[in-house]
Amino acid sequence: MGAMLERHGSLSDWAAFAASWDDLELDRYMGDGGRYRRRRHAVYSVAAGGEIRRAPHQAHYQDRAYNALNGGVARWFAPVEEAIGAGASLGAILGFCAALFGELSAARRAWRVEVHQLRIEARPGAAGLPTPEGVHRDGVDYVLVLLVARRNIVSGTTTIHDAGGGLLGAFTLTAPLDAALVHDARVLHGVTAVEPLDPGAEAYRDVLVVTFRGVGEGPAPVDPAASTPASSQPPGFKRSSSR
Ligand SMILES: [Fe+2]
Repeated sequence: MGAMLERHGSLSDWAAFAASWDDLELDRYMGDGGRYRRRRHAVYSVAAGGEIRRAPHQAHYQDRAYNALNGGVARWFAPVEEAIGAGASLGAILGFCAALFGELSAARRAWRVEVHQLRIEARPGAAGLPTPEGVHRDGVDYVLVLLVARRNIVSGTTTIHDAGGGLLGAFTLTAPLDAALVHDARVLHGVTAVEPLDPGAEAYRDVLVVTFRGVGEGPAPVDPAASTPASSQPPGFKRSSSR
């Protein structure tokens, strides 16, 4: 994955990029009352010509129809630090996504991009839930989940499902730069809980999540969840987002 990213820029500031996960802020909007998720957020636009620009800081909003657990309110998260948001690593990552997702959707040339730095903490007797809502889709077109770090945790397995919830595949992001690329309009995804390996030591899973949603002309994204009968949904299924 590193070589693929470096075709679109440099990872020269990766150490500082990864270290910035040590300075995320507590997510206080958790509908389950959990205090195990830390994050920062930024919004970008990708123009038809490929220009990538950071947008003014704004809330992350999802309708409750997509996120029954945490939707329906404007959620203000701390902004991605300026140097990280304008840094080489994030530039390479966004450039890679813009090129790949652009090739996959020729009719959809401009994008609204949301970037989430996320840390899920695990404590003895209190597993951290990367996707507290269970199997879901994010309500966008494409998603990149890039592993930044795993420290002293077990599990955290990514699962991919068809529209009816049937398991299509499962894999675990274990090394920095391991990635999941999800065509969110077609499949559902989830991540299993993470638990500490050594209960006496700090334990967490750091990921970068980047979502791309087409704007302007182009076909509307398919929403497989919209046609999924409730009776065929898997346990834990909700039409919601992991963020
Ligand atoms: Fe998600």
